[in-house]
Amino acid sequence: MTSAVQTNAVLSTSHRLRKVLALDDFELLARQHLPRPVFGYIANGSETNGSRDDNRAAFAEYQLLPKVLVDVASRSQSTSLFGVEHAAPFGIAPVGLSALAAYRGDLVLAQTARRVGIPMIMSGASLIRMEDVARAAPDSWFQAYFPGDVGRIDPFVDRIAAAGFKTLVATVDVPVISNRENAARAGFTAPLRPGPRLALDGILHPRWTVGTFLRTLLQHGLPHFENGSPQRGLPILARNVAYQHDGRDSLDWRCMAHLRKRWGGRLVVKGILRAEDARRAVGEGLDGIMVSNHGGRQLDGTPSPLRVLPGIVDAVGGAVPVMLDSGVRRGSDVIKALALGASFVFLGRPFIFAASVGGQAGVLHLVRLLADEIDRNMAMLGINRLAELDRSFCRERATSL
Ligand code: GLV
Repeated sequence: MTSAVQTNAVLSTSHRLRKVLALDDFELLARQHLPRPVFGYIANGSETNGSRDDNRAAFAEYQLLPKVLVDVASRSQSTSLFGVEHAAPFGIAPVGLSALAAYRGDLVLAQTARRVGIPMIMSGASLIRMEDVARAAPDSWFQAYFPGDVGRIDPFVDRIAAAGFKTLVATVDVPVISNRENAARAGFTAPLRPGPRLALDGILHPRWTVGTFLRTLLQHGLPHFENGSPQRGLPILARNVAYQHDGRDSLDWRCMAHLRKRWGGRLVVKGILRAEDARRAVGEGLDGIMVSNHGGRQLDGTPSPLRVLPGIVDAVGGAVPVMLDSGVRRGSDVIKALALGASFVFLGRPFIFAASVGGQAGVLHLVRLLADEIDRNMAMLGINRLAELDRSFCRERATSL
C-alpha cells in the first residue's frame, strides 16, 4: 500500500470508530462490512437462536444495588487470574475463522491483547498457524477440540506445547457440530462454495473483498484450517472439510484424565453448564472452568451461563477459577457475572466484529469502551476493587408484578 492509501485507510477507520459508542455498535458496522455468509456465521446461534438470545436476556434479569457515600477515588479494575495480573477482568474468547472476518484476525487479536494486558484465546478452528500466533504473542491461550482417541490426542497436545502455549482450553460442548441453519440461510457453508452468490457478496462488500479476502490470498495464499490437528488441515474451500470433525463424539472424562497427564501446562475446560460436571473437572485436576453455552451456538435450549453460574461457583467452592462467556456486551454485564462469582469473563463476537471493521484500532477501541464502562460502574456501585463484588450487589428483578 502507498502511504497515501494507508493514511486514507487510517482516517476512514478512525471516522468509522467515532460512531462506535458501545460494543453493539461494532455489530451494526460489521453487518454492513462483511459479506452476508461471513456475518451470518459469526452472528447466529444454532437452530432457533434461543440460547443465543437467552445469553442477553439473562443479564437484563439482574439488577445492580449500589452502595453510596463510599470514597471510590482509588479504584482499579486490574484482576488476577492464575496468578497473572491483567489490566481488566475480561479477555478474548476463541472465535473460529477469525482471519476470514478480519485481515490476519487471530494475530491482530493476540497482539492487541498482549499490548493492553488482557488474555486472548486462539480458536482451534483458525486459519493462521498456531506457531505464528504463539511467537507473536506468547501469553495467548490455545483452545482445541479433541477427538476421543488418546492416540490422536497425544501428537496434537505435543504440537500445542511445542508451539509454546502455556494455557490450553479444551472445549467439551461439541461432540457434534450443531445445526447452524441460520448461518446456512445467510449463505454460509463449510466448505465455502465459490459461485455467483459468493461473487455478488464480494462485489457488494468491496472493502472486505479487497482489504481482507484478496489481501489474504495474495500475501498468504488460500486459507487452511491450520490448527485442528497435529498437521495442517484442509483449505476452507475443500469438499471434505467436514471429515475434520470425526471422532469428537467419543471424547469423555477418560480422555480428559489422559489429557491432564499429557499436558503439563494449565488446563481449562470450556462448555460446562452443570454443577456436577464442574465438580468432576476439579476432581480430575483441571485448573479452570469456563461456564459457557458456546455463545448459543451448540445445543439450542441451554440456559445462559449466567443463570447456572452461582450453582457452579458454589459447587467448586473456590478450588479453581470459574470463568464465563456468552452474551457479555456491557461493563454492567461483566460486573453482574463477577458479583455472581465469576473470576473472569470472555467475549467473542464483539472482538471479532471490532477486528473486522477496525483492525487493531477497532480492538483497542473496544477494550477502552468496555474498561471505561466498568470503571464508571465501579464508581457508581461504590467499590474500589472488583474483589469487593459479591452477590449483595445483584438482585433478580421480579418476573411479574
Ligand atoms: C466454532 O467454535 C463455532 O462456534 O463456530
